[in-house]
Amino acid sequence: MAKATMYFPPDFKWGAATAAHQVEGNNTNNDWWAWEQTPGHISRDQKSGLAADWWGDGFERDLDFAAQMGHTAHRLSIEWARIEPQEGVWDTAAIDRYRYMLSAMRRRGIEPMVTLHHFSNPLWVAERDAWETTAIVPWFERYVSKAVDSLKDLCDLWVTINEPNVYAVAGYVPDQAETVDHDAPSALFPPGKNSLNLAFTVVANMLRGHAAAYRGIHQLQPTARVGVAQNMRVFDPARPDNVLDRFCAFNRDRLFNHTLLNALLTGRYDRPFGVPQWIRGLKGALDFIGLNYYTRELVKFDRSRPTTIMFGRSVLDPNTPMSDGNYGELYPLGLFRMLKRLERTGKPIFITENGLPDADDDQRPAFLLTHLREVWRAINQNIPIMGYYHWSLVDNFEWAEAWNLRFGLIKLNVETQERRLRRSGELYGEICRRGVIDDGLVYEYAPALLDTLFPG
Ligand code: FCB
Repeated sequence: MAKATMYFPPDFKWGAATAAHQVEGNNTNNDWWAWEQTPGHISRDQKSGLAADWWGDGFERDLDFAAQMGHTAHRLSIEWARIEPQEGVWDTAAIDRYRYMLSAMRRRGIEPMVTLHHFSNPLWVAERDAWETTAIVPWFERYVSKAVDSLKDLCDLWVTINEPNVYAVAGYVPDQAETVDHDAPSALFPPGKNSLNLAFTVVANMLRGHAAAYRGIHQLQPTARVGVAQNMRVFDPARPDNVLDRFCAFNRDRLFNHTLLNALLTGRYDRPFGVPQWIRGLKGALDFIGLNYYTRELVKFDRSRPTTIMFGRSVLDPNTPMSDGNYGELYPLGLFRMLKRLERTGKPIFITENGLPDADDDQRPAFLLTHLREVWRAINQNIPIMGYYHWSLVDNFEWAEAWNLRFGLIKLNVETQERRLRRSGELYGEICRRGVIDDGLVYEYAPALLDTLFPG
């Protein structure tokens, strides 16, 4: 084992990420809250309820932990349904609350990155088919302009839309959910439809919404940096030598990763099974790329699934390490592979999400060290990575999996709202404060990794 230190750049941003509906609580006016009320939608019919009470006291308490860990950045989302509860009606108290939250971050030396849409829609938008029609584009642009105008003295780093691909797949392609053996009865998001065609339409409209928002934000704030948080998964053939598996993995990659990214860069949406569409204002409407990376899927040819996932089925390799609930393979190299791929775009990159469900925290320390090592390697190859936001700061309402999966650096008791920093949070704090990973740290938190991380 060698003695060595991995240095991160001094201005590298360290933080964590959260989303409004997952942490705020009593978020009653959006489509997710409504979705939770119908039995069968959420695993064991759990509810978001008070969540992590960020609309109350929980926010400040978690932020204190973030400050204690030495975070210099935080990615949060604001809730459209709170800001515009009815069409054209602005809730100034909600806006003031977000102003307060952003100021509270700044006071602690934490720079906010604000996501304007993270999965949930106001009820009035959902009732009008949300992203299924182009009608939403001007509504979204108006909301974004109002929000940015109200918050622009406190934030200049914006994510317009979180994971258009996940939103479209989880809400419109039920078969996809069954491909990975989740514990939940279904991984469906609202509106829970079954139409691949609508999924592609939704993505196209989100791209339109992004382009409109990008333009609107820059008009209000010329110095703004505006991006999208893009979920990217590695798709590898389950049997590397099998031509059909390779073909299916290639297809999944095109559908899930490539098409959206390519549209964001070129303005051309190569709608699968359709004619290419040029989206007005999209080309060049990207100041940075947000990468949400979690896992890899191994794809196997399956003749019984001709339509929804084009003969490809994801399989779990019993020999690879998995996170809780078979959420996914722990595959740090995938982060490096995705960063390498994004390098070609020439855009600055923020890792806007990366994490794992791990209630007893026996995997998270090693996860952090191995994934951050890949980030460090990529930085050393001059890939412009500006910061890392771990998902998540605190245990939160994990959508259809509700409280089954615990992603937090802070452990939350949902009933009592008590919290405690996990050991992985202590480790992450050391890394954030010092900006380095060295053999001493690895020895202390994950000694089994010493030879892997510092060979020689
Ligand atoms: C991402 C979502 C985020 C969280 C993590 C685990 O796809 O953006 O809200 O649920 O997965």
